Amino acid sequence: MQNTPHHDILQGLARRPACISPKYFYDQRGSQLFEEITRLPEYYPTRTEHALMRTHGDDIARAVGQGGTVIELGAGNCEKARTLCRLLQPERFVGVDISADFLREGVARLCSDLPALQAHAVAGDLTRPIQLTPDIPRARRVVFYPGSSIGNFDPPQALELLSRMRALVDADGALLIGIDLPKDVDVLQAAYDDAAGVTAAFNRNVLAHVNRLIGSDFTPEAWEHRAFFNGEQSRIEMHLEARESAQVRWPGGGRDFAAGERIHTENSYKYSLTAFQALLARAGFSRAQAWTDERVWFAVVHAQP
Ligand code: AVJ
Repeated sequence: MQNTPHHDILQGLARRPACISPKYFYDQRGSQLFEEITRLPEYYPTRTEHALMRTHGDDIARAVGQGGTVIELGAGNCEKARTLCRLLQPERFVGVDISADFLREGVARLCSDLPALQAHAVAGDLTRPIQLTPDIPRARRVVFYPGSSIGNFDPPQALELLSRMRALVDADGALLIGIDLPKDVDVLQAAYDDAAGVTAAFNRNVLAHVNRLIGSDFTPEAWEHRAFFNGEQSRIEMHLEARESAQVRWPGGGRDFAAGERIHTENSYKYSLTAFQALLARAGFSRAQAWTDERVWFAVVHAQP
């Protein structure tokens, strides 16, 4: 059964502990806040990946090859797409994102920057099968999934998503994916609990978005941002913790939260290269080449069927 956002959110709020999927972070304001996160001194993934793409650009372009179609999942503002498209010179770019308006602006900017490129915007939720229109040729597709966004999915879901990416490409296709690697806990935790409080605002904003989606009356400021590394599961967890007891209501229902009770809003898994390559192989990508920075904090992986 296909869940509507409404149904999906109510289900998560009924759980003990309650949870809200991280996909609901990305309304207009959430996408803006995430963009701000990527510029924070503590948030190393975006700039490390960007530096990797620059340093190893020629190598990556040689491995992936030029032309064909680049399909970026979670394309957002298409900032990374611009760098990659300059590098690979594809004929066509397809940006897929859950935040449709934000994506369309990004694709429009990309079109004006790279006029030779045929660029398409597709509104889509990566937790569901990815539907591309038949006018997108299957030949020489490169699925681009940067930023370590795969980390939002637990390993079984990640395997499912990688398998769906595999189904998007033929034998001549590939996947170019960014992976955040395990590292010092303090470095990891600071990246998700920055001094300026931008990540806290990003986390709380999910409640404002949920209020609009289901008509609930969450007070975002009444919830404390919590972020910590769970070493057993190799993941950062983000939660919202009720500062005081709270009665939250929405049309047809509601839930009471005790002081200190949490809503789990995000997991961000940190895969080792070996663990990730095993996952890739199970998804049907048997060949993989990886580029890493000198601190080995992040990897860009080129995987082929
Ligand atoms: C977009 C999922 C890669 O997990 O690092 C950033 C989201 N959450 N700060 C991540 C996020 C809090 C980000 N991803």
